[in-house]
Amino acid sequence: MAEGTWYAGDIDRVIVTEDQIRAKTEELAKQIAADYADADSLLLVGVLKGALMFMADIARALGRYGPPVEVEFMAVSSYGQGTTSSGVVRILKDLDRDITGRHVIVVEDIVDSGLTLSWLMKYLRSRSAASVDVVALLRKPDAVKVQVPVRYVGFDIPSEFVVGYGLDFDERYRELPYVGVLKPEVYARS
Ligand code: PRP
Repeated sequence: MAEGTWYAGDIDRVIVTEDQIRAKTEELAKQIAADYADADSLLLVGVLKGALMFMADIARALGRYGPPVEVEFMAVSSYGQGTTSSGVVRILKDLDRDITGRHVIVVEDIVDSGLTLSWLMKYLRSRSAASVDVVALLRKPDAVKVQVPVRYVGFDIPSEFVVGYGLDFDERYRELPYVGVLKPEVYARS
């Protein structure tokens, strides 16, 4: 696994492997493509920064199976620099264009408390999208404070702090190709 990388020594264990992510992304893209077979196009709205890897991979997979996609990004903040949700959602980067009448799919790396997504779905609906669905690679069912309908879910994972494949701890570890848990001493030294 991860030999020769700077981060390998910091990872306690892998939760979702690179192969599992690849296979699941294909599966989710096929499902979305089947459900939206009649749509002219899909507008993927990636939630920065965490969704960067998943956005690229799901867009490529949809390119093989689905209707044409267009991509947009939003940046919102719910965490600050720690490891727990604050419940405060702020727009750091808004959509660049009108989404009226569009079939929107929000692309998220993780649904933790659900606060970000709950807020985002209301926001996108208020901008007159024809439909708003969500594809999330990871979901922590135990941590859900707000019930949000996530139509497409990759993996339900335990309520532990995870990094990799876009997810960070203090802006590090986003480049890991898998999702893993950090060794306790990493937190102790930061
Ligand atoms: C994370 C993650 C989700 C959100 C989920 O983003 O990418 O967008 O938190 O948490 P919630 O379900 O508890 O609301 P974060 O705010 O850490 O920003 P980042 O993606 O830029 O790292």
